[in-house]
Amino acid sequence: MTEQEPWKACLNLAEIEAAGAAAMAPGPRAYYAGGAADEVSMRDNRASFERWRIVPRMFVPNTPRDASVEVLGRRWPQPFAIAPMALQRNGHPDGEVAVARAAAARGLTYCLSTCASAGFDEIAATGAPRWFQLYLLSDRARSQALIEEAEATGHEALILTIDTPVTGLRERDIRDGYGLPKGVEYCLIRREGSQRGTSVLDDAIQPTYSWDDLAWVLSVTRMPVLVKGILHPEDARRAVEMGAAGIVVSNHGGRQLDMAIAGLDALPAIAEAVGDRGVVLMDGGVRRGTDVLIALALGARAVLLGRPVLFALPLGGEPAVGHALDLLTKEIDRALVLSGIPDAREWRREHLVRAGELPGRGA
Ligand code: FNR
Ligand code: LAC
Repeated sequence: MTEQEPWKACLNLAEIEAAGAAAMAPGPRAYYAGGAADEVSMRDNRASFERWRIVPRMFVPNTPRDASVEVLGRRWPQPFAIAPMALQRNGHPDGEVAVARAAAARGLTYCLSTCASAGFDEIAATGAPRWFQLYLLSDRARSQALIEEAEATGHEALILTIDTPVTGLRERDIRDGYGLPKGVEYCLIRREGSQRGTSVLDDAIQPTYSWDDLAWVLSVTRMPVLVKGILHPEDARRAVEMGAAGIVVSNHGGRQLDMAIAGLDALPAIAEAVGDRGVVLMDGGVRRGTDVLIALALGARAVLLGRPVLFALPLGGEPAVGHALDLLTKEIDRALVLSGIPDAREWRREHLVRAGELPGRGA
């Protein structure tokens, strides 16, 4: 390890988060790390994984093994993509571009946020397989322009996030005085006037949603649309019945409604409600390869990786993010071997037990 390459000492994503947080100024750190209110949902995202155990099988040949999954017609080399996250230049001057380059080098899909501090063209230039995450703006014409530009710049799918009609109660941001650092700006929703923290969002984002909004989005794009922020199976069922291509089961990293159910806990019922009518992804608290596989066993086709990517940025930009992605990839591979379930697509509920619950004779 050299001082210029501090990420090399990080053995896992938790260590990357800790080292990255230590390297950041208090305001931007609060914005990346914080959840809403008492952060119960944020902590529960981690705890939800620890409530499960894997029951491994032995005498299973582990070659070949396969971590790949198919999502909306594309073969993903790993069962994860990069979650849409705002303002990645808070973490490093290269921000979104560094993350997208690291994703591109590994064939991983990058989700560009409406609140990005980079433009569509910059992300397209990285060559990463890419999705666009849309926040509906109060100004319909501007929302439509974003959708059209995402399409024109080769974004393959649209994630419509619907859990943010107002930002959650981010007390850490207030306490640590988070405001946009110099040189960081919202590139896709740029507006005149001051840009102070998340208030720009509260100004720009539509303050209430209805099912008509989903119908409108579906009517104006050829991209498949996934709805992100769904936690109730009836909402998931209705979205796919209306034509959504999929659901991202998510409590937004515990940043929106505190006390909301963890994505992993909501996942099994939503996967059942959606059935084969759409693809189900989840996020929130994914930090280990075994987390990814537990989510797959509970009905997700793949997961989104969030904060560890952000906290890799201040440790060294693209190579540090690449290291984080490689750590998770290696952990998935090792778990495929050690579990005796060497194909990611074969993970099922029957491979798990609740922690503290004894497996039945048939398990
Ligand atoms: C987010 N997330 C998010 N989601 C979204 O749809 N649009 C966005 O712009 C953002 N912005 C954002 C910023 C930051 C700093 C964070 C931490 C998160 C939520 C994100 O997509 C994902 O749901 C969570 O990050 C998952 O939780 P973990 O695993 O990162 O803790
Ligand atoms: C956030 C918004 C931008 O979580 O999604 O900060």
